[in-house]
Amino acid sequence: MTASPSARHFLFLVTSSRRAGNSEQLARRAADNLSTTDTQTWINLADYPLPAFADLRHATSENWTPTIEGHARTLLEATLAATDLVIVAPVYWYSLPAAAKLYLDHWSAWLRAPGYDFKARMADKTLWAVSTYSDTDPRFAAPLKETLRLSAEYMHMRWGGHLLGSGNRPGDVLDDAAALVTAETFFTATR
Ligand SMILES: Cc1cc2nc3c(=O)[nH]c(=O)nc-3n(C[C@H](O)[C@H](O)[C@H](O)COP(=O)(O)O)c2cc1C
Repeated sequence: MTASPSARHFLFLVTSSRRAGNSEQLARRAADNLSTTDTQTWINLADYPLPAFADLRHATSENWTPTIEGHARTLLEATLAATDLVIVAPVYWYSLPAAAKLYLDHWSAWLRAPGYDFKARMADKTLWAVSTYSDTDPRFAAPLKETLRLSAEYMHMRWGGHLLGSGNRPGDVLDDAAALVTAETFFTATR
């Protein structure tokens, strides 16, 4: 008898600056193929705006610890509750949209927040990325992918992979047949 894989809880963090864009549409296609034992939560970062990040690590005493409150606390707790974290992010200037980058910057505070054990708990998780861009050459999405892949490596997280589709106007990605085929098995192929 083979053991069934344990249930996963996916957190989809939508980071585009417009609603229901190509990246979210592609991510929802991929999510449609999750196993029935997997659960999913969707959060649009526009609904939980984070404050500008301030690096206070060396500003006060050596024992400085951040206080995490408001939307930052909601996002931190949602992040820790997931087994699988999916950054849904269009390519903006070859890299991440500002909202996604700001979320990552806040990890630097969360790493130092007492009571969360952020780094150790992140190490149990898998980081994935789902993106769209108006190009067709994946070289032009490499900085986005590498930002996330290297961040996963730093956090000792597993790297799930990068699902990349092409499109410019909302809905265009649904014409990218290859991306839609990849989406069907994206979250399940390597299980
Ligand atoms: C600020 C901004 C920067 C962009 N930079 C790039 C880029 O560097 N390369 C690219 O191929 N497309 C770029 N695009 C196009 C978007 O990636 C494309 O329209 C994508 O489908 C948007 O995804 P969304 O619908 O999920 O927001 C940019 C769009 C915006 C608004």
